[in-house]
Amino acid sequence: MLSETLAGLGRFSADGPGVTRFAYDDHWCDAQRWLAGRAVELGLTATPDAAGNLFFHAPDVAPGTPAVLVGSHLDTVRHGGLYDGAYGAVCGLLVAAELRDRKDLPVVGMVTAEEEGSRYSGDMLGTRAILGRMSPTELDTMRDEAGISWRDALRHAHERDCATSLAAGARPCPVMFPPAAMIEIHIEQGPVLESERLAIGIVEHIVGYRRLRARVRGEARHAGTTPMRLRKDALAAAAEMILAVENEAREMGEPAVATAGHVTAEPGLYNVVPGASEVWIEMRHVDVEKVAALEASVTARCRSIAARREVDLDMERVAGLEPAALSTPMAREAESLARELGVAHRRMVSGAGHDAMLFAAAGVPTLMFFVPSRGGISHAPDEHTDPADLWTGLRFLLEFARRMTIVPEAV
Ligand code: HGY
Ligand code: MN
Ligand code: MN
Repeated sequence: MLSETLAGLGRFSADGPGVTRFAYDDHWCDAQRWLAGRAVELGLTATPDAAGNLFFHAPDVAPGTPAVLVGSHLDTVRHGGLYDGAYGAVCGLLVAAELRDRKDLPVVGMVTAEEEGSRYSGDMLGTRAILGRMSPTELDTMRDEAGISWRDALRHAHERDCATSLAAGARPCPVMFPPAAMIEIHIEQGPVLESERLAIGIVEHIVGYRRLRARVRGEARHAGTTPMRLRKDALAAAAEMILAVENEAREMGEPAVATAGHVTAEPGLYNVVPGASEVWIEMRHVDVEKVAALEASVTARCRSIAARREVDLDMERVAGLEPAALSTPMAREAESLARELGVAHRRMVSGAGHDAMLFAAAGVPTLMFFVPSRGGISHAPDEHTDPADLWTGLRFLLEFARRMTIVPEAV
């Protein structure tokens, strides 16, 4: 059931290698509706909210009921894998179905919208809506690379039955199930569990990140007649900045990471010295001061490169979340359960961002579990987790959720 459902979801993708499903596009809507159909087959009700999040609940657990939310996301990066997000979303559905008779503390499956930021880089829009942090102005200011506003993307999702209509006023997306707690299971996306032959990671901390857009403006000139000494080459300046991004993270030392994931050049021809370039930069660290220091050093390096090359530089912060600490009491519960069940486990930090970090930051008792990733590979078509590891994670998650009789104190 688990592997078949994940393989089934993998069909909903744009062309090209791996899985590409951007929030609110047709592939994403098809995947949401397909999984909603599986929920109904399992005797649950599938209810979307106005931000396109999807909830799987027992028919007699009405919206508005505080619940333990268990799930993850279905949107992906470009050419991603079968498991990132989808595994946790499917596990949330299966756990909600198995525990549908729980009334003291209902368990509701959840599929969040736009966790990756592949289309709208606004820091996990779906989860922000679940937590009551969807601002009406963002609906029109938040635009994708094609200029489509979040509001119009939601209108399209509504037409596809993947979102309810937006409410007017301060809260366009009424909170569907106030989160009494949140649990997310996810592939590790790194090498630790596999290398240590462990089945479960108990995530204590999730790294923070900052995302910047560096817009470089030089002078577009004839590539044949403009001497090298007279050029203000925007792409050459961007190339130096890209290496500076890598260098700053190396100099800070692990676990600091920094990436320049996208670069453009205009007009982008053989015979024109590039007059403009744009670089997308991301930095991460588990320590809040360090991620700020890394952003500052990268910015300073880019500015000094621009000054030396006499090009203009605009650095815009487009997204960023602080590192998050997950629930200590819940982690203790999970550790004693793992010992009782004889499941090989360890506590760990997540180098990947997750919806769970926003729930934890909002004071919701939150915990994440990881299962091993083959070769630590993720955000790539060859992302893989063995079916046995997927099942061990699901059974552990189910038992943990089953035993959550009282809501642990906040983090
Ligand atoms: O980018 C991340 O860390 C996550 O996959 N959204
Ligand atoms: Mn991801
Ligand atoms: Mn993910």
